[in-house]
Amino acid sequence: MIDLKTPDEVAKMRQTGRLVHRVIHETGKHIAAGITTAELEDIAVSIISEAGGSSPCLGYAPYGHPPYPAWTCISVNEEIVHAIPGPRIIKEGDLVTIDCCAELNGWLADSAFTFPVGKVSTQAAKLLKITEECLYKGIAQAKPGNRTGDIGYSVQKHAETAGFSVVRELNGHGVGRKMHEGELHVPNFGYRGKGTVLKEGMTFAIEPMINIGREHIRTRADGWTIVTRDGSLSAHFEHTVAITRDGAEILTNGE
Ligand code: MF3
Ligand code: CO
Repeated sequence: MIDLKTPDEVAKMRQTGRLVHRVIHETGKHIAAGITTAELEDIAVSIISEAGGSSPCLGYAPYGHPPYPAWTCISVNEEIVHAIPGPRIIKEGDLVTIDCCAELNGWLADSAFTFPVGKVSTQAAKLLKITEECLYKGIAQAKPGNRTGDIGYSVQKHAETAGFSVVRELNGHGVGRKMHEGELHVPNFGYRGKGTVLKEGMTFAIEPMINIGREHIRTRADGWTIVTRDGSLSAHFEHTVAITRDGAEILTNGE
């Protein structure tokens, strides 16, 4: 069963979504050569805690993983997702993804944004542009009667047309009272007209992870950090959306 949210519940998720947007973009202003990802995490933690929120990531331990030790995931360059903030020093030309899922008053929202550090390569800039566009192509397909495959198809088509590849092992997911409402999976690849039918009241994250090189991944020895196997750059943009009668309402765009 996929939990359908009432307009009132969606409004509560939007409150959390506003906080998540602020965390990502206020923390993002501090991204510069010389700062560590642990220092960025500290900034994010203070914004979330001062707002009265908390982190569903901290201590999160799905089967086969050690408990996640931080509030955010901050992934650099070849790190696709779930990199644990730590001593890695940001440098000019890097791509830094801040991924934040927070809880406020019992409701969650999840979003990610990849920032360029200073001047990045032409290919890196193209990767950012295409990956963000993939997110919005996916969101455009998120409406009642469409299926998860319509989202995946449009994300995949846009990424592959640009010559990039789509990570297969990680999907968008239902979000609401929990970070991963397990009955709903939103792959970033697939076929039009296949997958779960979207209904008004569904709330979920759409989150393309796109690589410049091949799609294959590897998990580092810390049990969390997922990197491209070929070491190529990866980008990640994510929004939490709610399905309404007319389409998708983005809950994490700061509005
Ligand atoms: N936004 C991330 C996700 O949906 C949050 C991960 S928290 C972690 O996977 F604990 F799993 F790292
Ligand atoms: Co997510």
